[in-house]
Amino acid sequence: MGGGVFISIEGIDGSGKTTHSKKLVKWLSKHGVRSLYTREPTNGAVGRILKSIVKRRDVDSRVEALLFAADRLEHLNRIILPYLEKSYVVVSDRYVYSSLAYQTVTTGERKWVREINKFARKPDLTLLLDVEPKVGLSRIRRHRTRFEEESFLERVREEYLRLAEEDGLIVIDASKNIGEVFHEVVRVVGEHLKHESPLA
Ligand SMILES: Nc1ncnc2c1ncn2[C@@H]1O[C@H](COP(=O)(O)OP(=O)(O)OP(=O)(O)O)[C@@H](O)[C@H]1O
Ligand SMILES: [Mg+2]
Repeated sequence: MGGGVFISIEGIDGSGKTTHSKKLVKWLSKHGVRSLYTREPTNGAVGRILKSIVKRRDVDSRVEALLFAADRLEHLNRIILPYLEKSYVVVSDRYVYSSLAYQTVTTGERKWVREINKFARKPDLTLLLDVEPKVGLSRIRRHRTRFEEESFLERVREEYLRLAEEDGLIVIDASKNIGEVFHEVVRVVGEHLKHESPLA
């Protein structure tokens, strides 16, 4: 598998995933660690179909769940695994826990969503940026998709917190300001990498 480390950043809409994934990759690079920022949904062939389908209001949530899982496998095979082989730290802005949370709520099929995602290699470390939906939504100026409803995100947040218990996601209080949250992100990642590799 090479010496890479796979980190995913999760959380509801507006929790700060993109902000902190990008900051983290910059920070790692500054400290001499080869790292890659990547995200889901991807810009690959399946990801593009998925994004066009997500915009529709009449889509079957099961079709959507299957496309998310397919896009994820492409992401894993084409980007994540090759970079891990090259010993990169790969930071993914959303990954399998996004489906385990969002698609469980949209389909109501918790076990099935796990099943269709069973080929998604688990990240070595997952950070859950936890905020109340009100806070997350207030940070997003325009509501872009139907996923961005407060009551819906409340249920997604509950799924995420359940996953944190079950699968050991590291929960970070993302209601604080960016600097404070990032300090915590770096602390957790730094601690993990210390055990993982002879990083200074
Ligand atoms: N801790 C924070 N405090 C205040 N504002 C924040 C914080 N974290 C992020 N923001 C701001 O909130 C907005 C949304 O952040 P970001 O895009 O990183 O969230 P996201 O989780 O990637 O959202 P999405 O799910 O929509 O992709 C950005 O304008 C960002 O600068
Ligand atoms: Mg984002």
